[in-house]
Amino acid sequence: MAIVYLNGEFIPADKAQVSVYDRGYLLGDGIYEVIPVYAGSAFLLDRHLQRLQNSLDGVRIENPFSDAQWTGIINDLIARNNAGDQSLYLQVTRGVAPRDHIFPIGVAPSVFLMSNPLHPVADSWKTDGIKAITTADIRWMRCDIKAITLLANSLMKQLAQDAGAQEALLLRDNYLTEGSASNAYVVIDGVIFTAPKDEKVLPGITRDLIIELAAQNDMPLHERAISESALRNADEIWISSSTKEVVPVTLLDGEIVGNGKPGPVWQQMDILFQRYKQEVI
Ligand code: PDD
Repeated sequence: MAIVYLNGEFIPADKAQVSVYDRGYLLGDGIYEVIPVYAGSAFLLDRHLQRLQNSLDGVRIENPFSDAQWTGIINDLIARNNAGDQSLYLQVTRGVAPRDHIFPIGVAPSVFLMSNPLHPVADSWKTDGIKAITTADIRWMRCDIKAITLLANSLMKQLAQDAGAQEALLLRDNYLTEGSASNAYVVIDGVIFTAPKDEKVLPGITRDLIIELAAQNDMPLHERAISESALRNADEIWISSSTKEVVPVTLLDGEIVGNGKPGPVWQQMDILFQRYKQEVI
């Protein structure tokens, strides 16, 4: 039985219960993080804790713990779930209070963490790439906050699933923002582009690392708005996330991307990414 952390206690997952008055349950009033764990070690943890702080600030929930306390809880949970490769999920909601849109006063946030086995993506995702669809980005204008309120993301991802695709790439005003659960990139004439950090995209931790690896290895990369036509004519398209790393997209809305195979720029980035991972774990 997996062990989870709930409001100060490490308990078996089937014993973990929250009140129906929790504002996460009633209002989607909370934020979360997903942190990959490789060989028992939380990958880029300091960056995830910084983004956690930014999300808490964005929704005006006081951080219940210091970074050192978070690190202790996270490492304890990893160990209790037999180390190895895991996907650690952490959420903070505004807590339990009578239903009201106005924030309650003097209520402690609810804190929940769980850790599940992290399965690498299927080999075929890397040898052949994945299918994606495009869809209108129907989310709010604070996508930089990692809010638990994922109904729009879920609806868009389900559209991809219904179309036999693995991800939905989101278009807002004819520009690519990101994926329903990933950041997105295009490669045009050897140059990598990804949408700039603003309120329309999540500042992905994997995205930051990709940008740094590109800079360190003389791979041209620009954080710039990507038009729909640039997306449709790209030589390569990739997505990235903490649980999937960097994945090539080879079919978009049924049209072949580039030559239909994962491209050379993606291959180079994947090698750099895997090398970086090996160095830090
Ligand atoms: N999602 N954009 C969105 C909308 C996301 O949901 C995610 C990740 C990312 C990538 O961010 P990062 O590299 O920090 O994982 C971008 C996680 C994995 C999830 O919701 O499960």
